[in-house]
Amino acid sequence: MNMKRPVRKAVIPVAGNGTRFLPATKAMPKEMLTIVDRPVVQYAVDEAMQAGIENIIFVTSRNKTAIEDYFDSAPELIATLTRSGKTVQVTQLEKMLPLAGTVSYTRQQVPLGLGHAVWCARELVGDEPFALLLPDMVSYGRKGCMAGLMELYEEVGGNVFAVEECAPEETSSYGVIGVGRSVNHGLEVTGMVEKPKPEDAPSNYYLNGRYILQPEIFDLLASQERGAGNEIQLTDSMQKLLNVQPFHAHPYTGRTFDCGSKRGFIEANVAFAMLRSDMGEDIYNSVKDLLDMHEKTRVKAA
Ligand code: G1P
Repeated sequence: MNMKRPVRKAVIPVAGNGTRFLPATKAMPKEMLTIVDRPVVQYAVDEAMQAGIENIIFVTSRNKTAIEDYFDSAPELIATLTRSGKTVQVTQLEKMLPLAGTVSYTRQQVPLGLGHAVWCARELVGDEPFALLLPDMVSYGRKGCMAGLMELYEEVGGNVFAVEECAPEETSSYGVIGVGRSVNHGLEVTGMVEKPKPEDAPSNYYLNGRYILQPEIFDLLASQERGAGNEIQLTDSMQKLLNVQPFHAHPYTGRTFDCGSKRGFIEANVAFAMLRSDMGEDIYNSVKDLLDMHEKTRVKAA
């Protein structure tokens, strides 16, 4: 079996409810919340494209049509902007429009967990390796996390995913892996467990939401066994696949913001705004002012 076939397609699950962001997500998908002026989901698409991905497969659910509209053309808006001479915005919108036929959508009809959402993409992926990006996890670094993962895949083939280190008490929020020796630019994976208690965690390397998987994962996901949180977990099927195929981990050296949490989302907004050439300095100064103001208020209140 050739375990280094090219990776052309990326699956991006966007079916979650976003209950942590209510009421904002009552009438809009959480993936459309903005980091500065671009929706969270755009960051995952850009990262995939930067890594050489040609096709995006979204796994959506009810009330997610705003995502489809966002990746479609907007002729009325373009006409209005053109009439008012807003050429910069027109160019920007045209540049971000995916090539016709390169974006597909399938629905996860029942929210049964990440493993089930990925399984819903099996027909669109077909019999080839695919990338998987969880859009809540927004990576911030010189190079996109998926591009680095693709480099490791080209070296070792098989299944690869990106990991970062977390504090021991945080293991119960993530998938955590056991690591063996270093291989090329990665680490051999010896086991994986979803959301372990700190005392059961095999290490503090957690899965940060970026994967390249062989299509055999779909046969394992098909059994639909429930795991942590009574959900169908991707990690459980990966653990089974590890018995027959290699897995390697890519330690990501950038930083990932967990935009599924309010804290991560706010941090991402500040960090990305400070990086922007058109506003970075202003935002940096504003953050300093806000810190001063906050300190003074705290001193007064004490
Ligand atoms: C999912 C995965 C978990 C991974 C995490 C990253 O968990 O199951 O292994 O570490 O994403 O965000 P969820 O956040 O959906 O609970």
